[in-house]
Amino acid sequence: DHGSPKTINKSTFTKIEENTEKKNTSEKERATIIFSLKNEVGGLVKALKLFQENHVNLVHIESRKSKRRNSEFEIFVDCDSNHEQLNEIIHLLRKHVNVVDMDPPDNSYMYDVPWFPKKISDLDKCANRVLMYGSELDADHPGFKDNVYRKRRKYFADLAMAYKHGDPIPRIEFTQEEVKTWGVVYRELNKLYPTHACREYLKNLPLLSKFCECREDNIPQLEDVSRFLKERSGFTIRPVAGYLSPRDFLAGLAFRVFHCTQYVRHSTDPLYTPEPDTCHELLGHVPLLAEPSFAQFSQEIGLASLGASDDSVQKLATCYFFTVEFGLCKQEGRLRAYGAGLLSSISELKHALSGNARIMPFDPKVTCKQECIITTFQDVYFVSDSFEEAKVKMREFAKTIKRPFTVRYNPYTQSVDVLKDTPSINSVVEELRHELDIVGDALNRLNKQLGV
Ligand SMILES: [Fe+2]
Repeated sequence: DHGSPKTINKSTFTKIEENTEKKNTSEKERATIIFSLKNEVGGLVKALKLFQENHVNLVHIESRKSKRRNSEFEIFVDCDSNHEQLNEIIHLLRKHVNVVDMDPPDNSYMYDVPWFPKKISDLDKCANRVLMYGSELDADHPGFKDNVYRKRRKYFADLAMAYKHGDPIPRIEFTQEEVKTWGVVYRELNKLYPTHACREYLKNLPLLSKFCECREDNIPQLEDVSRFLKERSGFTIRPVAGYLSPRDFLAGLAFRVFHCTQYVRHSTDPLYTPEPDTCHELLGHVPLLAEPSFAQFSQEIGLASLGASDDSVQKLATCYFFTVEFGLCKQEGRLRAYGAGLLSSISELKHALSGNARIMPFDPKVTCKQECIITTFQDVYFVSDSFEEAKVKMREFAKTIKRPFTVRYNPYTQSVDVLKDTPSINSVVEELRHELDIVGDALNRLNKQLGV
Protein backbone atom coordinates (compact mmCIF):
# COMPACT_ATOMS: atom_id res chain seq x y z
CA ASP A 1 0.00 0.00 0.00
CA HIS A 2 2.94 2.31 0.43
CA GLY A 3 4.27 2.04 -3.05
CA SER A 4 4.23 5.77 -3.64
CA PRO A 5 7.63 7.45 -3.98
CA LYS A 6 9.16 7.73 -0.54
CA THR A 7 10.96 11.02 -0.49
CA ILE A 8 10.92 11.25 3.26
CA ASN A 9 11.95 14.69 4.26
CA LYS A 10 11.97 15.24 7.96
CA SER A 11 11.81 18.98 7.68
CA THR A 12 8.50 18.84 5.78
CA PHE A 13 6.93 16.67 8.43
CA THR A 14 8.08 18.87 11.24
CA LYS A 15 6.77 21.91 9.38
CA ILE A 16 3.22 21.08 10.33
CA GLU A 17 4.02 19.82 13.80
CA GLU A 18 5.61 23.07 14.81
CA ASN A 19 3.40 25.20 12.69
CA THR A 20 1.79 28.34 13.92
CA GLU A 21 -1.84 29.16 13.20
CA LYS A 22 -2.78 30.24 9.73
CA LYS A 23 -5.89 32.23 8.89
CA ASN A 24 -8.84 30.43 7.30
CA THR A 25 -10.11 32.01 4.13
CA SER A 26 -12.61 30.96 1.51
CA GLU A 27 -10.03 31.37 -1.24
CA LYS A 28 -7.84 28.53 -2.39
CA GLU A 29 -4.87 28.07 -0.18
CA ARG A 30 -2.27 25.49 0.64
CA ALA A 31 -3.49 22.94 3.17
CA THR A 32 -1.58 20.15 4.82
CA ILE A 33 -3.05 16.93 6.11
CA ILE A 34 -1.34 14.08 7.89
CA PHE A 35 -3.31 10.88 8.15
CA SER A 36 -2.52 7.33 9.09
CA LEU A 37 -4.01 4.43 7.19
CA LYS A 38 -6.32 2.04 8.90
CA ASN A 39 -5.49 -1.61 8.37
CA GLU A 40 -7.35 -1.99 5.09
CA VAL A 41 -6.40 -3.20 1.63
CA GLY A 42 -6.26 -0.36 -0.86
CA GLY A 43 -6.61 2.24 1.88
CA LEU A 44 -4.17 4.72 0.39
CA VAL A 45 -5.71 4.49 -3.07
CA LYS A 46 -9.18 5.09 -1.58
CA ALA A 47 -7.91 8.06 0.37
CA LEU A 48 -6.12 9.65 -2.58
CA LYS A 49 -9.12 9.06 -4.82
CA LEU A 50 -11.16 11.30 -2.54
CA PHE A 51 -8.89 14.19 -3.44
CA GLN A 52 -9.28 13.45 -7.12
CA GLU A 53 -13.06 13.13 -6.90
CA ASN A 54 -13.31 16.48 -5.15
CA HIS A 55 -11.02 18.15 -7.70
CA VAL A 56 -8.41 18.95 -5.12
CA ASN A 57 -4.93 19.17 -6.55
CA LEU A 58 -2.22 17.33 -4.61
CA VAL A 59 1.07 19.19 -4.76
CA HIS A 60 3.20 17.09 -2.45
CA ILE A 61 2.93 13.67 -0.87
CA GLU A 62 5.17 11.69 1.47
CA SER A 63 4.91 8.71 3.74
CA ARG A 64 6.67 7.68 6.94
CA LYS A 65 6.41 5.12 9.70
CA SER A 66 3.96 6.28 12.35
CA LYS A 67 5.48 7.69 15.51
CA ARG A 68 2.27 6.94 17.35
CA ARG A 69 1.59 3.38 16.29
CA ASN A 70 4.48 1.23 15.18
CA SER A 71 2.48 -0.88 12.74
CA GLU A 72 1.00 2.11 10.90
CA PHE A 73 2.18 4.42 8.19
CA GLU A 74 1.49 8.10 8.06
CA ILE A 75 0.80 9.98 4.86
CA PHE A 76 1.67 13.63 4.52
CA VAL A 77 -0.26 15.52 1.87
CA ASP A 78 -0.01 19.12 0.67
CA CYS A 79 -2.93 20.27 -1.44
CA ASP A 80 -4.57 23.39 -2.82
CA SER A 81 -8.15 23.75 -1.65
CA ASN A 82 -10.62 26.24 -0.35
CA HIS A 83 -12.14 26.09 3.10
CA GLU A 84 -15.29 24.27 2.00
CA GLN A 85 -13.46 21.65 -0.06
CA LEU A 86 -11.14 21.01 2.85
CA ASN A 87 -14.05 20.42 5.23
CA GLU A 88 -15.62 18.06 2.71
CA ILE A 89 -12.38 16.12 2.19
CA ILE A 90 -11.75 15.78 5.91
CA HIS A 91 -15.29 14.61 6.47
CA LEU A 92 -14.92 11.92 3.79
CA LEU A 93 -11.35 11.00 4.75
CA ARG A 94 -12.38 10.19 8.30
CA LYS A 95 -14.38 7.24 7.01
CA HIS A 96 -11.20 5.53 5.74
CA VAL A 97 -8.26 6.94 7.66
CA ASN A 98 -7.22 8.46 10.96
CA VAL A 99 -6.58 12.16 10.46
CA VAL A 100 -3.58 12.82 12.70
CA ASP A 101 -3.06 16.52 12.15
CA MET A 102 -3.85 19.25 9.71
CA ASP A 103 -3.19 22.84 8.87
CA PRO A 104 -5.28 25.01 8.80
CA PRO A 105 -6.57 23.51 12.07
CA ASP A 106 -9.45 21.07 11.86
CA ASN A 107 -12.91 22.54 12.22
CA SER A 108 -14.72 19.72 10.53
CA TYR A 109 -16.50 18.93 13.81
CA MET A 110 -18.73 21.81 12.72
CA TYR A 111 -19.46 19.95 9.50
CA ASP A 112 -23.18 20.05 8.76
CA VAL A 113 -23.84 22.24 11.81
CA PRO A 114 -26.29 25.01 10.86
CA TRP A 115 -25.16 28.56 11.60
CA PHE A 116 -26.24 29.88 14.96
CA PRO A 117 -25.72 33.15 16.85
CA LYS A 118 -22.70 33.07 19.18
CA LYS A 119 -23.25 36.43 20.84
CA ILE A 120 -26.34 38.45 21.65
CA SER A 121 -25.73 41.02 18.91
CA ASP A 122 -25.70 38.17 16.35
CA LEU A 123 -29.48 38.14 16.83
CA ASP A 124 -29.49 41.17 14.51
CA LYS A 125 -28.68 38.67 11.76
CA CYS A 126 -31.66 36.41 12.33
CA ALA A 127 -34.40 38.47 14.01
CA ASN A 128 -35.56 39.97 10.72
CA ARG A 129 -36.35 36.77 8.87
CA VAL A 130 -40.08 36.95 9.50
CA LEU A 131 -42.48 34.66 7.70
CA MET A 132 -44.95 37.48 6.99
CA TYR A 133 -44.18 41.14 6.69
CA GLY A 134 -46.32 44.01 7.92
CA SER A 135 -49.16 44.65 5.55
CA GLU A 136 -49.13 41.17 3.98
CA LEU A 137 -52.12 39.66 5.77
CA ASP A 138 -53.80 36.36 4.93
CA ALA A 139 -57.21 36.56 3.24
CA ASP A 140 -58.93 35.21 6.38
CA HIS A 141 -57.23 37.77 8.66
CA PRO A 142 -59.80 40.11 10.31
CA GLY A 143 -57.80 43.11 9.03
CA PHE A 144 -57.39 41.85 5.46
CA LYS A 145 -59.74 44.42 3.90
CA ASP A 146 -58.83 47.29 6.20
CA ASN A 147 -56.27 49.54 4.49
CA VAL A 148 -55.79 51.78 7.54
CA TYR A 149 -54.99 48.69 9.63
CA ARG A 150 -52.58 47.40 7.00
CA LYS A 151 -50.76 50.70 6.92
CA ARG A 152 -50.49 50.67 10.69
CA ARG A 153 -49.11 47.12 10.57
CA LYS A 154 -46.48 48.24 8.08
CA TYR A 155 -45.45 50.99 10.53
CA PHE A 156 -44.87 48.40 13.31
CA ALA A 157 -43.08 46.04 10.93
CA ASP A 158 -40.69 48.76 9.78
CA LEU A 159 -39.86 49.71 13.37
CA ALA A 160 -39.06 46.09 14.21
CA MET A 161 -36.99 45.58 11.06
CA ALA A 162 -34.87 48.66 11.81
CA TYR A 163 -34.20 47.55 15.39
CA LYS A 164 -30.61 46.68 16.35
CA HIS A 165 -29.32 45.08 19.54
CA GLY A 166 -28.75 47.74 22.19
CA ASP A 167 -31.27 50.23 20.79
CA PRO A 168 -34.05 51.34 23.12
CA ILE A 169 -37.34 49.86 21.88
CA PRO A 170 -39.30 52.67 20.18
CA ARG A 171 -42.19 53.99 22.29
CA ILE A 172 -45.55 53.75 20.58
CA GLU A 173 -48.35 56.23 20.74
CA PHE A 174 -51.22 53.78 20.60
CA THR A 175 -54.45 54.95 18.97
CA GLN A 176 -57.71 55.16 20.92
CA GLU A 177 -58.98 52.20 18.95
CA GLU A 178 -55.94 50.10 19.87
CA VAL A 179 -56.25 50.97 23.55
CA LYS A 180 -59.95 50.11 23.44
CA THR A 181 -59.22 46.69 21.90
CA TRP A 182 -56.52 46.04 24.49
CA GLY A 183 -58.95 47.12 27.22
CA VAL A 184 -61.54 44.50 26.23
CA VAL A 185 -58.92 41.74 26.20
CA TYR A 186 -57.45 42.93 29.51
CA ARG A 187 -60.84 43.15 31.29
CA GLU A 188 -62.17 39.79 30.12
CA LEU A 189 -58.98 37.89 30.85
CA ASN A 190 -58.57 39.42 34.29
CA LYS A 191 -61.94 37.93 35.25
CA LEU A 192 -60.56 34.44 34.60
CA TYR A 193 -57.04 34.71 36.01
CA PRO A 194 -57.84 34.19 39.73
CA THR A 195 -59.35 30.78 39.00
CA HIS A 196 -57.37 29.75 35.91
CA ALA A 197 -53.80 31.12 36.05
CA CYS A 198 -50.95 29.46 37.92
CA ARG A 199 -49.56 30.83 41.18
CA GLU A 200 -46.43 32.37 39.59
CA TYR A 201 -48.51 34.23 37.06
CA LEU A 202 -50.80 35.67 39.74
CA LYS A 203 -47.81 36.76 41.76
CA ASN A 204 -46.14 38.62 38.88
CA LEU A 205 -49.10 40.18 37.08
CA PRO A 206 -49.57 42.97 39.68
CA LEU A 207 -45.86 43.85 39.29
CA LEU A 208 -46.52 44.57 35.65
CA SER A 209 -49.15 47.08 36.68
CA LYS A 210 -46.87 48.58 39.30
CA PHE A 211 -43.70 48.93 37.19
CA CYS A 212 -44.94 49.10 33.60
CA GLU A 213 -48.28 50.92 33.84
CA CYS A 214 -50.15 47.85 32.70
CA ARG A 215 -53.80 48.93 33.06
CA GLU A 216 -57.09 48.47 31.27
CA ASP A 217 -56.69 51.97 29.78
CA ASN A 218 -52.97 51.76 29.00
CA ILE A 219 -50.88 49.39 26.89
CA PRO A 220 -47.43 48.98 28.46
CA GLN A 221 -44.39 50.03 26.41
CA LEU A 222 -42.05 47.17 25.47
CA GLU A 223 -39.02 49.20 26.54
CA ASP A 224 -40.39 49.49 30.11
CA VAL A 225 -41.31 45.82 30.13
CA SER A 226 -37.84 44.86 28.90
CA ARG A 227 -36.18 46.83 31.72
CA PHE A 228 -38.55 45.27 34.24
CA LEU A 229 -37.80 41.73 33.05
CA LYS A 230 -34.07 42.37 33.01
CA GLU A 231 -34.18 43.10 36.75
CA ARG A 232 -36.41 40.16 37.60
CA SER A 233 -34.96 37.31 35.52
CA GLY A 234 -32.37 38.68 33.08
CA PHE A 235 -34.73 38.41 30.12
CA THR A 236 -34.94 41.28 27.63
CA ILE A 237 -37.28 41.97 24.77
CA ARG A 238 -36.63 42.48 21.08
CA PRO A 239 -39.40 43.84 18.88
CA VAL A 240 -40.25 41.59 15.95
CA ALA A 241 -42.36 42.15 12.84
CA GLY A 242 -44.22 38.82 12.89
CA TYR A 243 -43.68 35.06 13.07
CA LEU A 244 -40.05 33.98 13.13
CA SER A 245 -38.94 30.51 12.11
CA PRO A 246 -38.77 28.15 15.12
CA ARG A 247 -34.97 28.08 14.80
CA ASP A 248 -34.61 31.86 14.95
CA PHE A 249 -37.17 32.27 17.71
CA LEU A 250 -35.60 29.58 19.93
CA ALA A 251 -32.13 31.04 19.30
CA GLY A 252 -33.31 34.25 21.00
CA LEU A 253 -34.30 32.32 24.12
CA ALA A 254 -30.75 30.99 24.40
CA PHE A 255 -29.68 34.59 25.13
CA ARG A 256 -32.69 35.28 27.35
CA VAL A 257 -34.11 37.42 24.61
CA PHE A 258 -37.82 37.22 23.93
CA HIS A 259 -39.09 38.40 20.55
CA CYS A 260 -42.30 40.40 20.98
CA THR A 261 -44.75 41.80 18.46
CA GLN A 262 -45.77 45.36 19.15
CA TYR A 263 -48.94 45.73 17.06
CA VAL A 264 -52.48 45.24 18.35
CA ARG A 265 -54.98 42.74 16.89
CA HIS A 266 -57.81 44.01 14.67
CA SER A 267 -60.58 45.83 16.54
CA THR A 268 -63.48 43.89 14.98
CA ASP A 269 -62.70 40.82 17.05
CA PRO A 270 -60.83 41.67 20.26
CA LEU A 271 -61.16 38.14 21.62
CA TYR A 272 -59.58 36.45 18.62
CA THR A 273 -56.28 36.78 16.77
CA PRO A 274 -54.80 34.35 14.26
CA GLU A 275 -51.24 35.49 15.15
CA PRO A 276 -49.39 36.76 18.19
CA ASP A 277 -49.98 40.43 19.02
CA THR A 278 -48.84 42.67 21.84
CA CYS A 279 -51.83 41.64 24.01
CA HIS A 280 -50.69 38.02 23.74
CA GLU A 281 -47.06 38.90 24.51
CA LEU A 282 -47.82 41.20 27.45
CA LEU A 283 -50.65 39.31 29.14
CA GLY A 284 -49.58 35.83 28.08
CA HIS A 285 -45.79 35.73 28.22
CA VAL A 286 -44.40 38.56 30.31
CA PRO A 287 -45.67 37.66 33.82
CA LEU A 288 -44.02 34.23 33.58
CA LEU A 289 -40.82 35.46 31.97
CA ALA A 290 -40.40 37.49 35.16
CA GLU A 291 -40.17 34.21 37.10
CA PRO A 292 -36.53 33.02 37.42
CA SER A 293 -37.30 29.28 37.26
CA PHE A 294 -39.44 29.77 34.16
CA ALA A 295 -36.80 32.00 32.58
CA GLN A 296 -34.25 29.25 33.12
CA PHE A 297 -36.57 26.66 31.58
CA SER A 298 -37.11 28.85 28.50
CA GLN A 299 -33.40 29.52 28.06
CA GLU A 300 -32.54 25.83 28.23
CA ILE A 301 -34.88 25.04 25.34
CA GLY A 302 -33.14 27.83 23.42
CA LEU A 303 -29.63 26.59 24.19
CA ALA A 304 -30.53 23.06 23.15
CA SER A 305 -31.64 24.36 19.75
CA LEU A 306 -28.37 26.08 18.79
CA GLY A 307 -26.73 24.24 15.91
CA ALA A 308 -29.21 21.34 16.17
CA SER A 309 -30.60 19.65 13.05
CA ASP A 310 -33.90 20.79 11.52
CA ASP A 311 -35.57 17.69 12.88
CA SER A 312 -34.32 18.36 16.43
CA VAL A 313 -35.32 22.03 16.24
CA GLN A 314 -38.81 20.95 15.21
CA LYS A 315 -39.05 18.66 18.23
CA LEU A 316 -37.84 21.38 20.59
CA ALA A 317 -40.25 23.89 19.05
CA THR A 318 -43.12 21.45 19.62
CA CYS A 319 -42.10 21.02 23.26
CA TYR A 320 -41.91 24.81 23.53
CA PHE A 321 -45.40 25.08 22.00
CA PHE A 322 -46.99 22.67 24.49
CA THR A 323 -45.27 24.23 27.50
CA VAL A 324 -44.52 27.93 27.08
CA GLU A 325 -47.59 28.46 24.86
CA PHE A 326 -50.11 25.85 26.02
CA GLY A 327 -48.71 24.33 29.21
CA LEU A 328 -50.74 23.38 32.27
CA CYS A 329 -49.54 22.65 35.77
CA LYS A 330 -51.03 21.18 38.91
CA GLN A 331 -51.20 23.40 41.98
CA GLU A 332 -52.97 22.47 45.23
CA GLY A 333 -54.57 19.57 43.41
CA ARG A 334 -56.04 21.80 40.69
CA LEU A 335 -55.14 22.33 37.06
CA ARG A 336 -53.82 25.80 36.29
CA ALA A 337 -52.55 27.39 33.08
CA TYR A 338 -49.06 28.75 32.56
CA GLY A 339 -48.95 28.71 28.74
CA ALA A 340 -49.20 32.15 27.12
CA GLY A 341 -51.46 30.94 24.32
CA LEU A 342 -53.98 29.96 26.99
CA LEU A 343 -53.49 32.95 29.26
CA SER A 344 -54.21 35.31 26.36
CA SER A 345 -57.26 33.47 24.94
CA ILE A 346 -60.51 33.61 26.88
CA SER A 347 -62.23 30.73 25.10
CA GLU A 348 -59.27 28.34 25.05
CA LEU A 349 -58.36 29.11 28.67
CA LYS A 350 -61.89 28.14 29.72
CA HIS A 351 -61.84 25.07 27.49
CA ALA A 352 -58.46 23.76 28.70
CA LEU A 353 -59.61 23.77 32.33
CA SER A 354 -63.25 22.82 31.70
CA GLY A 355 -62.73 19.14 32.46
CA ASN A 356 -63.58 18.25 28.85
CA ALA A 357 -60.11 18.72 27.38
CA ARG A 358 -57.71 15.81 26.98
CA ILE A 359 -54.81 16.15 29.43
CA MET A 360 -51.58 14.16 29.40
CA PRO A 361 -48.43 14.34 31.54
CA PHE A 362 -45.67 16.40 29.91
CA ASP A 363 -43.02 14.07 28.58
CA PRO A 364 -40.77 15.56 25.88
CA LYS A 365 -40.38 12.18 24.13
CA VAL A 366 -44.17 12.01 23.67
CA THR A 367 -44.98 15.72 23.51
CA CYS A 368 -42.50 16.37 20.69
CA LYS A 369 -44.60 14.21 18.36
CA GLN A 370 -47.91 15.97 19.03
CA GLU A 371 -49.39 18.11 16.27
CA CYS A 372 -49.48 21.87 16.98
CA ILE A 373 -52.78 23.49 16.02
CA ILE A 374 -52.85 27.21 15.27
CA THR A 375 -56.42 27.99 14.23
CA THR A 376 -58.51 26.04 16.76
CA PHE A 377 -58.10 24.53 20.23
CA GLN A 378 -55.39 21.93 20.84
CA ASP A 379 -56.38 18.24 20.82
CA VAL A 380 -54.43 17.67 23.98
CA TYR A 381 -52.72 19.70 26.72
CA PHE A 382 -49.69 18.60 28.69
CA VAL A 383 -49.42 19.03 32.44
CA SER A 384 -46.27 19.36 34.59
CA ASP A 385 -46.01 19.42 38.39
CA SER A 386 -43.69 22.42 38.30
CA PHE A 387 -41.27 24.31 36.05
CA GLU A 388 -38.53 22.58 37.96
CA GLU A 389 -39.87 19.19 36.91
CA ALA A 390 -40.44 20.32 33.31
CA LYS A 391 -36.88 21.65 33.22
CA VAL A 392 -35.35 18.39 34.41
CA LYS A 393 -37.29 16.47 31.75
CA MET A 394 -36.30 18.94 29.02
CA ARG A 395 -32.68 18.72 30.13
CA GLU A 396 -32.68 14.93 29.78
CA PHE A 397 -34.35 15.25 26.38
CA ALA A 398 -31.82 17.85 25.23
CA LYS A 399 -29.01 15.37 25.91
CA THR A 400 -30.46 13.03 23.27
CA ILE A 401 -30.13 15.71 20.58
CA LYS A 402 -27.26 14.91 18.22
CA ARG A 403 -24.69 17.68 18.23
CA PRO A 404 -20.90 17.33 18.15
CA PHE A 405 -20.52 19.81 21.01
CA THR A 406 -22.35 21.26 23.95
CA VAL A 407 -22.92 24.94 24.65
CA ARG A 408 -22.81 27.03 27.79
CA TYR A 409 -24.14 30.54 28.19
CA ASN A 410 -21.69 33.12 29.44
CA PRO A 411 -23.77 35.85 31.12
CA TYR A 412 -20.78 38.23 31.47
CA THR A 413 -20.25 38.48 27.74
CA GLN A 414 -23.80 37.51 26.77
CA SER A 415 -22.35 34.94 24.47
CA VAL A 416 -22.41 31.21 23.94
CA ASP A 417 -19.30 29.17 24.66
CA VAL A 418 -18.98 26.12 22.44
CA LEU A 419 -17.52 23.32 24.57
CA LYS A 420 -15.76 21.00 22.20
CA ASP A 421 -12.24 20.49 23.51
CA THR A 422 -10.28 20.28 26.75
CA PRO A 423 -9.30 23.97 27.04
CA SER A 424 -12.93 25.13 26.72
CA ILE A 425 -14.11 22.51 29.22
CA ASN A 426 -11.25 23.39 31.59
CA SER A 427 -12.36 27.00 31.70
CA VAL A 428 -15.79 25.87 32.90
CA VAL A 429 -14.14 23.73 35.56
CA GLU A 430 -12.16 26.77 36.73
CA GLU A 431 -15.36 28.79 37.06
CA LEU A 432 -17.10 25.99 38.94
CA ARG A 433 -14.14 25.72 41.29
CA HIS A 434 -14.51 29.40 42.09
CA GLU A 435 -18.28 29.03 42.64
CA LEU A 436 -17.64 26.10 45.01
CA ASP A 437 -15.12 28.24 46.88
CA ILE A 438 -17.87 30.79 47.44
CA VAL A 439 -20.20 28.09 48.76
CA GLY A 440 -17.44 26.75 51.02
CA ASP A 441 -16.69 30.20 52.36
CA ALA A 442 -20.38 30.91 53.00
CA LEU A 443 -20.78 27.62 54.89
CA ASN A 444 -17.67 28.32 56.98
CA ARG A 445 -18.97 31.73 57.99
CA LEU A 446 -22.37 30.27 58.81
CA ASN A 447 -20.77 27.57 60.93
CA LYS A 448 -18.76 30.16 62.85
CA GLN A 449 -21.89 32.20 63.51
CA LEU A 450 -23.75 29.13 64.75
CA GLY A 451 -20.71 28.12 66.82
CA VAL A 452 -20.44 24.74 65.14
FE1 LIG B 1 -46.42 33.33 22.15
